[in-house]
Amino acid sequence: MGAATILFALVFYAATLLCVAGLAWRIADYARTPAPLKIPTTPAPTTMGGVVLRMAREVALFESLFKSSLWTWLFGWMFHVALALVLARHLRYFIEPVWFWVTFIQPFGMYAGFALVAGLGGLWARRFLVDRVRYISTPSDHLMLVLLLAIGISGLALRFLAHTDIVAVKAFFLGLIYFDWQPLPAHPGLYVHLGLVALLIAIFPYSKLLHAPGVFFSPTRNQADNPREARHLSAWAAALEKAKP
Ligand code: HEM
Repeated sequence: MGAATILFALVFYAATLLCVAGLAWRIADYARTPAPLKIPTTPAPTTMGGVVLRMAREVALFESLFKSSLWTWLFGWMFHVALALVLARHLRYFIEPVWFWVTFIQPFGMYAGFALVAGLGGLWARRFLVDRVRYISTPSDHLMLVLLLAIGISGLALRFLAHTDIVAVKAFFLGLIYFDWQPLPAHPGLYVHLGLVALLIAIFPYSKLLHAPGVFFSPTRNQADNPREARHLSAWAAALEKAKP
């Protein structure tokens, strides 16, 4: 087994560990954070059913972003839908046999790679071209976009310019899952794509990309507008109240 195979195997195990542990820690932290006030952004639904529907629209359509900035919505939504398709297409490297719907979306996932890069390009251009966005952009805002762009472009290069042995790539990843290591093809483009992906996986829970699980914990989105019907008490306030003589 070559040194590169061993290195990438260890790097992917480490990245996965950092990602799972970080996600568990950050989500537990979010779940424990008190929301002492009733602050849904109005107009807001008055029932929990309505809240579930509002959250579903937020996650699938980015409704509030659509209302606040059409250009950001356009590029942001395009990037995220393309990412979902690209990731669904990548599932073929991790499952055997490949599910029917994963086979079905293969061509869509492939061309979604271009939409992914175009969406990211638009989001990055916005950070240079819109004055007030440029003013508040930090190096990490730029670096996350660069990382995602580099992953997208290196992926497209693998697909359209410098092919790698994708059957061997699949054997390598199945080998990691079943702890039965298989050689990774020696291919510089693949090393770049996979190295950047491992970096993304490792830093995901510690970066701004944590907004993916975070949106579900946002009190302005997950609360019903019912302060007249039900008294709002956070857990710690309820405990204090109970302890009163
Ligand atoms: C461990 C995870 C990953 C592996 C093993 C992997 C592997 C690959 C391989 C082998 C290709 C070439 C496909 C071909 O020649 O048919 C590819 C393409 C691509 N990858 Fe990845 N990749 C991973 C994660 C990602 C992630 C997280 C993204 C996006 C953020 C991404 C974006 C792309 C894109 C846009 C393409 C080109 C379109 C396509 O063929 O699907 N990849 N990837």
